[in-house]
Amino acid sequence: MLIRRPKDWEMPEREATPESVYYNRRQILAAAGLLAGPSLLGGSYPGKKNEEFTLDRAVTPEWAATGYNNYYEFDPYAKEGLANLTSKFMISPWMISVQGQVKESKQYDLDDLLKKFQFEERLYRFRCVERWAMAVPWTGFPLSELIKMVEPKPAAKYIRFVTANRPKEMPGMAKAPYPWPYFEGLRMDEAMNPLTMVVTGLYGKPLPKQNGAPVRIVVPWKYGYKSIKSVVTMDFTSNEPPTFWNRLISNEYGFYSNVEPKKAHPRWSQAQEQLIPTMERRPTLQYNGYEKYVAGMYNGKEF
Ligand code: MTE
Repeated sequence: MLIRRPKDWEMPEREATPESVYYNRRQILAAAGLLAGPSLLGGSYPGKKNEEFTLDRAVTPEWAATGYNNYYEFDPYAKEGLANLTSKFMISPWMISVQGQVKESKQYDLDDLLKKFQFEERLYRFRCVERWAMAVPWTGFPLSELIKMVEPKPAAKYIRFVTANRPKEMPGMAKAPYPWPYFEGLRMDEAMNPLTMVVTGLYGKPLPKQNGAPVRIVVPWKYGYKSIKSVVTMDFTSNEPPTFWNRLISNEYGFYSNVEPKKAHPRWSQAQEQLIPTMERRPTLQYNGYEKYVAGMYNGKEF
């Protein structure tokens, strides 16, 4: 996302963008061959398709969405071939700690927890702050259902999410002095918004590890870094929680991080995006095209 710039981007604002989207198809296909088999975690795949969510673009090919990732715990400097680095990462059993301002702080076994929810499939656009974009079918359920189940106290105004902290299984953690483990946050109304999903599947199958297995959050109207992977903690807080990218570079990454084409990143314009893998350019959509669902939560100043 920032620190190192391996290659140039193909957009005209060359100086602005740190990443390339050159695919080595062979590498990606090899990686796909190495993906773990289906996990035994709850839910069944594919989930029932939710017809409300349609796209204005083609669905991204599976090889591209699972072969081009941001997952700094596995490699902070590479996006391709991350599947090859995930073999040590154990995703079962998986415990999630629900804590803070809730009726009962508790460790949940993910397998048991997932049995309580009805899985569905939704097609969502997904926009990275670096300007690459994709559109994929996620399988999961609304985060609001889990929140209702754990009964937050009135003092709960935000949720802080934390990723697994397993340096021995996540080889990227030793490669950069970042404030691990990865952490993110949402305001309670954002977390309760019907668009916000707990995701365990992609393309009708369990999530590949490089996409955040066994469980991640997906917040489609925000830049991709808010969609935290491999979640182990949900902490209900009274105050706005700190976030990983804001901690690293506070003038570039705010708490809200809503997709906003008119608000340039300090180092590049956000007016356009490029679809992987074709690199077709499209105008960036306000709130990534989810304005009707989310604009009411904001006064337009939340970035
Ligand atoms: N979550 C964790 N734990 N670590 C990460 O490095 N990267 C974020 C987000 N969630 C990241 C993460 C960023 S910058 C993006 S764009 C998306 O994951 C990428 O999701 P994808 O690889 O499934 O496309």
